[in-house]
Amino acid sequence: MSAKLQPAARVSGQRQDVWSIINEAATASPVQPIVNMGQGFFGYNPPDFILNAAKQALDRVDCNQYSPTKGRPRLKKAISDAYAPYWGRKLDPETEITITTGANEGMLSAFMAFIEPGDEVIVFEPFFDQYISNIEMAGGKIAYVPMHPPKEGAVKTLSAGEWSIDFDELERAITPRTKMLVLNTPHNPVGKVFTRDELQRIADLCLKHQIIILSDEVYDRLYYVPFTRIATLSPEVEQITLTVGSAGKNFYATGWRVGWLMGPPHLIQYVSAAHTRICYSSVSPLQEACAIGFELADANSFWTESIASLKHKMALFNAVWDELGIPYSEPEGGYFVMVNLASVEIPDGYPFPPHVASRPRDYKLAWLLIQELGVAAIPPTEFYTDANAHIAEDYLRFAVCKEDSVLEEAKERLRGLKRFLKTKE
Ligand SMILES: Cc1ncc(COP(=O)(O)O)c(C=O)c1O
Repeated sequence: MSAKLQPAARVSGQRQDVWSIINEAATASPVQPIVNMGQGFFGYNPPDFILNAAKQALDRVDCNQYSPTKGRPRLKKAISDAYAPYWGRKLDPETEITITTGANEGMLSAFMAFIEPGDEVIVFEPFFDQYISNIEMAGGKIAYVPMHPPKEGAVKTLSAGEWSIDFDELERAITPRTKMLVLNTPHNPVGKVFTRDELQRIADLCLKHQIIILSDEVYDRLYYVPFTRIATLSPEVEQITLTVGSAGKNFYATGWRVGWLMGPPHLIQYVSAAHTRICYSSVSPLQEACAIGFELADANSFWTESIASLKHKMALFNAVWDELGIPYSEPEGGYFVMVNLASVEIPDGYPFPPHVASRPRDYKLAWLLIQELGVAAIPPTEFYTDANAHIAEDYLRFAVCKEDSVLEEAKERLRGLKRFLKTKE
């Protein structure tokens, strides 16, 4: 092929991504249909008050046309009202909030707005994989800082909060070119909610070195322990923080692609400018539906029910690990659980295809579960650099945002793991 028809390195160099490996494996499995607990999408619909708002929006002429590039005024006002209790004031919908096409495009806009080629961005491992390509598209360089699982994670179920940052490692990753730090709390995939003290230490370092904090809080309505938003620590921290939200996660509608960024005007205006050039504006009728979702959420006890529902699903599903004596990181937030399968013995000579055989142990565990039990989960080393992948190679990530009947079926199948468990001496 002519050199001029070749793709750019930013897409051509990428190895097969985890989603296609797992989805292909699921299609090829002898056990059908697969119970898919891999990707983090909901197995059920948003509640009626939100769905009906979307349906009605489609009947309105203005909702079928371009929205203002920074977002529909009704949605920005609804977000300002919904977050006022946490910020202690109403954010200015005009200058402190901007609507994006999902959290993803919002974060891409933030990187495009602030990263010049060669600038560095600190990312904790495991990371949400989109950060990496989004930072690289802007020409940024990533400095990775691993989160460390609890030492006894292979033998004991402990809180996900036990995954920790080594603050010396974090400080060593900072250079004069460090422009941003990406934080994610509640964390995907670990399920950790960073404590106020941890957030303060991160914020102090960012203030000292004048680093912008991009706080990915897409699971901000799903926490099972007290949850602090880093921007609310102090007016000084707020001045350097962009907070990211997702209607997809909040309202069980990941396909709607509505997200937002909140922050001080001197940061938000440039995120808006980048967003305008990337996609101009975001889906109008669904922005309207999300506005109504925020307006009616409290009256429908939606946020409290959302927490109760996911807590219930966590307990329902994780009971199978307790039953099997397999430890996991007890989530403090979000809808993922990391399970430590160090005690699972992969049979000698098990036939893995080459693209799985060449990957760390968690890929093999995921393959085994799909082929033998018909349950799909995600290998988390995908969310690490090669150098640090060993940290998570005994874990698999399961998404519990599925119907209870699906969780019951998954449990029944996972009981089949007994035949692969190492016998304890
Ligand atoms: C940590 C994290 N951030 C961002 C996103 C993307 O959110 P959205 O669907 O709103 O783009 C996800 C989705 O899985 C996520 O897990």
